[in-house]
Amino acid sequence: MMFEFEVLKECEKTGARAGVLHTPHGDIKTPVYMPVGTQAAVKALTTQQVEECGAQILLANTYHLYLRPGDELVKEAGGLHQFMHWDKPILTDSGGFQVFSLGELRRLTEKGAHFKSHLDGSAHTLTPEKVMQIEQNLGADIIMAFDECTPYPATYEYTKNSMERTHRWAERCQKAKTSRNQALFGIVQGGMFADLRRESALAINSMDFPGNAIGGLSVGEPKAKMYELLEVVTPLLERNKPRYLMGVGTPDCLLEGIERGVDMFDCVLQTRIARNGTALTSQGKKVVRNAEYARDFSPLDPECDCYACRNFTRAYIRHLLKAGEILGGMLLSLHNIHFTVKLMEGAREAILGGYFPEYKKEKFQKLGY
Ligand code: GUN
Ligand code: ZN
Repeated sequence: MMFEFEVLKECEKTGARAGVLHTPHGDIKTPVYMPVGTQAAVKALTTQQVEECGAQILLANTYHLYLRPGDELVKEAGGLHQFMHWDKPILTDSGGFQVFSLGELRRLTEKGAHFKSHLDGSAHTLTPEKVMQIEQNLGADIIMAFDECTPYPATYEYTKNSMERTHRWAERCQKAKTSRNQALFGIVQGGMFADLRRESALAINSMDFPGNAIGGLSVGEPKAKMYELLEVVTPLLERNKPRYLMGVGTPDCLLEGIERGVDMFDCVLQTRIARNGTALTSQGKKVVRNAEYARDFSPLDPECDCYACRNFTRAYIRHLLKAGEILGGMLLSLHNIHFTVKLMEGAREAILGGYFPEYKKEKFQKLGY
């Protein structure tokens, strides 16, 4: 089987598990953090640098690449892997989240999402069938079903209708997909309602996708609410298939997600806060841009062995940020991805070694949660 997922070890005290997902572009060791390359680029980094950070798989976006440069052009280039020079696995999100973020510019019907481009105002319609065609042209290893990320907050009635439409769209995606070297993942929705989450998890799970994602979380709700809903959903998703929590997260959310049985995560936070001058470190977040670091000649994170931490000081990186040198954002992006990848590698080792609860406890203490 091309996309076989093997659970290698399960934690005895929590839902955490370590596994391997096989793909046409190599194996992914889980749990895994996937850096985001929305427009076929991880902002500020070359794919060589991203690889040196230890990243195993990148995420790219259907919505953005469809609008620019166009999925046909990417296909002509030989697909996303060749176009962006990344030989490892790629996952494309379907646009269900980006279209939802457009607010006033979009309208949803049973057929699909009608919207105006954020680039030039041109009118477009994305349907499940169209999204499958686009994702096939892009050629990622894992492709996501077209869904609606239910807005937060939303009424029970809105959430239920939205969820049911997402289920119908998931079936349409499954029918429309013709490629054999891509794995289509379904997406669980259901907003903030436990009974809808349960219903959605059962519905998506029964469609027998090779992997199951959990969407519509980390949209503004309290973290405790997200953890509570995860506890409802993950036990209902097939044990022998990867579970992917979309758009998460911060170091604490990653470990909490792993504890509840999630295998895959993606988040823009790492590279976004990097460009604003913030480092994720083993002692918690540090705003390196702040004056307190002007004469701090220690590395971003003394426990990190990334290229930035091996060679540069907080004072130097702060100087770069203040002077508007793009190298500042590059070094911080590199560090933040490396840091997150290492956190996940540590979690995987801890699960395999039978000490995940202790690992999580120690990290939370040091990170200041
Ligand atoms: N990214 C974060 N949340 C979501 C979601 O609910 N749906 C999709 N397609 N992508 C997401
Ligand atoms: Zn570092």
